Amino acid sequence: MKSVYIHIPFCNDICTYCDFCKMYYNCDLANKYLISLNNEIASNYKGELIETLYIGGGTPSSLSIMQLKKLFTIINIFNLSQLKEFTFECNVDSLDYDKLKLLYDNGVNRLSVGIQTFNNDILKVLNRKHTKNDIINIYNIARSIGFNNINLDLIYGIQDIEVLNDDLNNLIKLNPEHISCYSLCINPNTKMYIDNKKQINEDLDYKMYSIIKKRLKEYNHYEISNYCKKGYESKHNLVYWNNERYYGFGLSACGYINNYRYDNTKNMNEYNKGNYIREKYIISNEENIKYEIMLNLRKKYGINKREFYDKHNINIINYNNISNLINENKLIENENNVYISERWKYKMNSILIKII
Ligand SMILES: C[S@@+](CC[C@H](N)C(=O)[O-])C[C@H]1O[C@@H](n2cnc3c(N)ncnc32)[C@H](O)[C@@H]1O
Ligand code: SF4
Repeated sequence: MKSVYIHIPFCNDICTYCDFCKMYYNCDLANKYLISLNNEIASNYKGELIETLYIGGGTPSSLSIMQLKKLFTIINIFNLSQLKEFTFECNVDSLDYDKLKLLYDNGVNRLSVGIQTFNNDILKVLNRKHTKNDIINIYNIARSIGFNNINLDLIYGIQDIEVLNDDLNNLIKLNPEHISCYSLCINPNTKMYIDNKKQINEDLDYKMYSIIKKRLKEYNHYEISNYCKKGYESKHNLVYWNNERYYGFGLSACGYINNYRYDNTKNMNEYNKGNYIREKYIISNEENIKYEIMLNLRKKYGINKREFYDKHNINIINYNNISNLINENKLIENENNVYISERWKYKMNSILIKII
């Protein structure tokens, strides 16, 4: 086990599209939550060396300076002597120089900032409280402090193609090391779903995916939604896609330890009572193989044939109907790997169903 995810479920405002586990920031509740989080970690962490740490949300940057300091004392329990990557998720609306400096001084070496779009009108529709200028200011402050590994999150499908191109111009100008581009997903229970004003158009979505891929040609499209400069792949997220073990702490967090996966409760009262885990399920060998195929195929180079054989004693080519999919050019096989062909990447689910 070399990775830890910690969930901070608070946000200053709730975006119209968001279905994540989040709630309005409340100072007292956040203080209480940090106590529970500390207890959960202290009673489950077994002292392993941690190489990647990811604090996500919600919006971890919505915590106050005092609470962030508390959070940094909580994570001191981990053996971080070999820490390679420490990511902290932020929203532009809750960042300023002091918070960014505190993150930097406490070892955060990768910032992941939600921007979604640079278009002020669309930002308002999404209920984002920052503007295009705020994004640029915060980005420049982060750079001036010394952050040299910044991810910016963009959503596509919320804007038309002209605005998307403008978003890409702005992104390319800022030149972050990493860009996550998520296709808009409209989930029930979100304001966007209830208002029913925005529909997903799959053809337009695919067109946007293709535009993004073309325009971000200087970046390595290493995972279906993720682009990076050379050497800036997210080490933590690769742990998930490589089907490796990790701890998940906090409300709604998931983890994978030994031979089981677990989901934490999404209920704050239960969590604060110490009932952290909602469901725990043993993963059989067969299920583990399926997880691995599903997760590996998200990556540009998909499944490494030798590693797969060494781990499972199975030649991936002989697994289910992989060879048929290769014959149909939906999967590509080269000397070392099996991966989804570019044309089918966007329709990955239809391929996964055939394999799994
Ligand atoms: C935890 S948030 C990032 C940090 C911060 N909470 C924020 O929003 O600025 C993770 C990212 O998921 C993406 N996201 C959330 N809901 C989405 C949806 N319904 N469709 C597509 N992307 C979504 C957004 O790009 C968002 O920045
Ligand atoms: S997108 Fe980010 S800021 Fe918006 S509600 Fe979701 S977690 Fe909170």
